Amino acid sequence: MIIVRAIREEDIPAFREVLDSVARERRYLALVEAPPLESAKAFVGAVIKAGHAQFVAVDEARIVGWCDALPGDAAAGTAHIGRLGTGVHRDYRRQGIGRRLLEATIAKSRERGLEKIELTVYASNVPAISLYQKLGFVEEGRKKRGRFLDGFYDDVLLMALDLRNKG
Ligand SMILES: CC(C)(COP(=O)(O)OP(=O)(O)OC[C@H]1O[C@@H](n2cnc3c(N)ncnc32)[C@H](O)[C@@H]1OP(=O)(O)O)[C@@H](O)C(=O)NCCC(=O)NCCS
Repeated sequence: MIIVRAIREEDIPAFREVLDSVARERRYLALVEAPPLESAKAFVGAVIKAGHAQFVAVDEARIVGWCDALPGDAAAGTAHIGRLGTGVHRDYRRQGIGRRLLEATIAKSRERGLEKIELTVYASNVPAISLYQKLGFVEEGRKKRGRFLDGFYDDVLLMALDLRNKG
């Protein structure tokens, strides 16, 4: 049984592993490998301490997916917006895990008073775009030919979910 729950300090190495495996697919994320463990520990440790929305999907002891929406910087005027990132290990896709992770992240973001969740997604990433649309995200813009990797150009879509007065 797959459980979706808030990330904990002890999950960080396994979270980094699944992030790394999705990054190394080189198709979906802006990263092509995960940051070093020490950076991941510092970054996620700060997220946990701040109580931001970061969820993991757990199969027995293995972390198989994650989703987070991390607010911007109050000093820069972006603390009302969460920036979303997500991924599910390729062996676990199409089982409803991505949707569960997103729903948990959206609910917590709303609870914490965020007004909006933003994300970027490559235009070729049909599964992710379909999931985001199902959960109410709309396209706000498009960076044409925003990535050139492994011989292919891709557009970068900007999508957002307005959290005000809903749910
Ligand atoms: C996008 C992603 C997180 C979806 O996770 P998932 O657990 O496979 O998704 P779910 O099983 O919850 O599916 C939810 C919806 O997503 C869409 N979807 C998922 N996989 C799809 C596919 N292969 N083709 C078309 N739509 C798909 C469907 O709308 C689906 O709803 P449905 O089951 O009613 O058809 C997963 O494909 C993934 O990790 N991709 C690589 C990383 C990534 O793209 N991250 C986002 C970067 S912006």
